[in-house]
Amino acid sequence: MVIARSIEALLEAKKGYGGEIGFVPTMGALHGGHLALIQTARSQNDHLVVSVFVNPTQFLEGEDLDCYPRREEADSKICELAGVDILFMPTTDQMYEKDELTIGAPLRGGYILDGAKRPGHFDGMLQIVMKLLNVTTASRAYFGKKDAQQLFLISQMARTYFLPCQIIPCEIVRDNLGLALSSRNAYLSVDEKRRALSLSRSLKRATRMVMSGNLNAKEITEEMRDVLADTDKIEYIAIVDRNFKSIGEVKIADTIILVAAWVGQTRLIDNIWI
Ligand code: PAF
Repeated sequence: MVIARSIEALLEAKKGYGGEIGFVPTMGALHGGHLALIQTARSQNDHLVVSVFVNPTQFLEGEDLDCYPRREEADSKICELAGVDILFMPTTDQMYEKDELTIGAPLRGGYILDGAKRPGHFDGMLQIVMKLLNVTTASRAYFGKKDAQQLFLISQMARTYFLPCQIIPCEIVRDNLGLALSSRNAYLSVDEKRRALSLSRSLKRATRMVMSGNLNAKEITEEMRDVLADTDKIEYIAIVDRNFKSIGEVKIADTIILVAAWVGQTRLIDNIWI
């Protein structure tokens, strides 16, 4: 495995690649969710690039940029064992210039839910994903469904800008108790981890209601709110179609139920695709 810390090193490492490149962008602190993306990408492509870059432009003032978990050595080992060809770990100077041209998230899709709570987050996220897709020249890029709104916006960006890269959605990976894997779970104490389970429990409750024929979004939201009483603050519960439009009734095969809540100092998100 080549570790490339600059654009030049990345270009040099993939010089001579003949086949298709699969790409998994990450911010590091790799966990089982990342590993699932990496394994899927490995099985579908000739070459595999993973990036680890804690992207400053997608963090808002006062967010956890400085304390975001950084585990370079462990991440390298995981990538090596998983058969990654190139691990791209650029510096911020490599990725950004001063006063650069930017792209912005669309006003509706980019400024609702997570975008409303974290205004500007998706602009920075799209900016870096666009750069990474261009510099890796990936044929396929892999993203988890846990960041459903991120996935929606990246797919839209790929469409809007005719990017020659297929965006591949991958299933959410959970621990054995149901907690969706996330690098930010590292912030949780034992008690917070227990309380964080109420996110997935609320989604299970919602699924059971749908399975028993109750498709009413308002009633489902109310039930979920009860289950989420164990968290410290609910940011949103949303029931949307696959285009992120709010819906009053669950439509089977065209609905995502999402939740964002705080447990202690940690903001968690989770969702289920119905
Ligand atoms: O999902 C993430 O880890 C990040 O938002 C991404 C896609 C790597 C962009 O920085």
